[in-house]
Formats: sequence, structure tokens, C-alpha cells
Amino acid sequence: MAKKIILDLDTGIDDALALAYALGSEELDLIGVTATYGNVLVEDGARNDLALLELFGRSDIPVFVGESHALSRDGFEVLEISAFIHGKNGIGEAQIPDAQANVQEQSAVDFLIESVERYGDELVIVPTGAMTNIATAMQRSPEFAERAHIVFMGGALTVPGNVSPWAEANINQDPEAADYVVRHGKDVTMIGLDVTLQTLLTYEETKQWRAFDTPAGTALADATDFYITAYDTVAPHLGGCGLHDPLAVAVAVDPSLVDLLPINLKVDTEGPTRGRTIGDETRLNDPQKTANVAVGVQVERFLEELMKRIGRVARGEAVAAR
Ligand code: BDR
Ligand code: CA
Repeated sequence: MAKKIILDLDTGIDDALALAYALGSEELDLIGVTATYGNVLVEDGARNDLALLELFGRSDIPVFVGESHALSRDGFEVLEISAFIHGKNGIGEAQIPDAQANVQEQSAVDFLIESVERYGDELVIVPTGAMTNIATAMQRSPEFAERAHIVFMGGALTVPGNVSPWAEANINQDPEAADYVVRHGKDVTMIGLDVTLQTLLTYEETKQWRAFDTPAGTALADATDFYITAYDTVAPHLGGCGLHDPLAVAVAVDPSLVDLLPINLKVDTEGPTRGRTIGDETRLNDPQKTANVAVGVQVERFLEELMKRIGRVARGEAVAAR
């Protein structure tokens, strides 16, 4: 039976690739997309989710709007660096028409809580933006915190951050939320820069999507080329764009793609290291570890899976169950 999955996205170019990866995976049943903020405002993220789902032929998948700003703030504005990397519209200025479908009336947080109540161990939640929706669900429902299986993209344990020497972008959006999630969640897997910056895509691969000459293939190639060009400016030593968010989905499908370090995590919320993901010294001797951090990745195998799965979607053949 296919594993149920909810993607919590701030769409975002690599979020769009994560969505395509999920839709190209027959092991997965994508039961909904919850929108968060980060690369874009939450409402723009939800718009992109709906538009991409329609483009990929899966407008049957519902989209829920989440929290619009961090727990400790009363508003949110897109950072200049986010707009530079993902474009003002979040999808690299790729022109994808608005979807016919609308967002759901139910809130993202209520949908998350209800889904964990209903599906328990059959469900995995993959957040790839600010973790405010997930923390809010945990604060409202201790059962959610207890039972949810979470594989998130964010953080940096063994390498520096990408918005400061300490902080990775998703954690930096809402360090209090991320801290709440890693302290209260019982099964949390962190896919951070330690591994995602080892997995890179180049124009060679996007050329293959473009060659399909389909609306989905062209949009994926246009958006990703924008992203690669931005990476060439901010991190030319890498030689490609980081496949952050799709790697988190890939690990939700197949954890053997990464080497996991069991650890009790915390996030610094004060001082110059605000946003740092690190071991919680107060739980160092607790034999029960509530988090696993990916510290190694099978790069070639992941890239093959990514090209196979996103290739299906780019050809117009999304296969995820429903
Ligand atoms: C993360 O930040 C966002 O810009 C990307 O979509 C990804 O989720 C990488 O640090
Ligand atoms: Ca993201």
C-alpha cells in the first residue's frame, strides 16, 4: 500500500521539484499540500501549489493555507535573497497559469492534526519551509506531537548555515517553531545542508526535461534554470543548484538514501547563534533519541531516482496514488 504523505511547502523552486518528486513516486499517496511562507508569502505559495498541481495533472490534490508568519512575529516579508534565488513569483518567473481549483476552507493546521489522528503511522509529513504550521499543530494537539512522523528539510549540523554562519534558511524563518518541533516531536528526521548541498542539479539535467516539449517539462526546466543561475552567483563553487527539498521527499520514500545520526536536537533562539540546529545538552544522556540527522547521502542513487521520478511528471505522467 502506498505511504500517505503531506507536503508542507513554501513554493519555491526546489519545493516545486519536491512536489514533482512526490507525484512521480508510486510508493506515495499525496493526500494534501499545506502552504507555509518563506521563499514567498503563504498565499503566493498556495497559488503556486495549485497551479503546479494542475500543470502536473493532479488538481484532485487539495491545498490548505497555513500560518502567515513566525510564532514570535506579527507579519512576514520575503527576504531579498529569497526573491533573488526563487524569483519574485517563487517559481523563477516561470509563467504557469492560475489553477481552476481553489484552496480548501479548512486551515493547514487543522488538516495536519486531523490527518495524523486519522492515519497515524501510515502518514509522513514533509515540511520544506518555515515550520510554523507544524509547531502550531503540536502546540494545539499533544497527540499530533506524539504520533506525527516528520521528515523536514532544514538546518545544518556539520556545516555552516546558508543565511548566516549558523542558520539555514528554513530554520531562520522561525527558530522558535523549529525548536518546538525538535523538542516535542517523537520521530523527526532532519535533512539539512549537510546532505542537500552534496546533491546538485545542472543545466545538463534540465535540458532533458525541456526536450520532452511538454508544458510540465518546460515549466520545470525554466524554473530550475533560474535557480541554477542564482546558485552560480551566490555559490559558484558548487557547480549546480542544491536539491534541498526533493531530497527530503526522497528520504521519506527511501530512508536508506542517507546515513542517519540519532540525536536529541534543539535550535538556538537567542544571541548570535539564533537559528543554529545542534544537540540538546540537557538530553545528551537520554537514551531515547527523538531525532535523526542525515549526515551522509548516496548522491548518484538519489540523482538517478530524481531524474526517473521527476522525468515522469515532466513527460505528463504523474503516478502517485490517490
Ligand atoms: C531551503 O530554503 C529555501 O529557500 C529552499 O526552498 C529550501 O527549502 C534551503 O535552505
Ligand atoms: Ca523550501
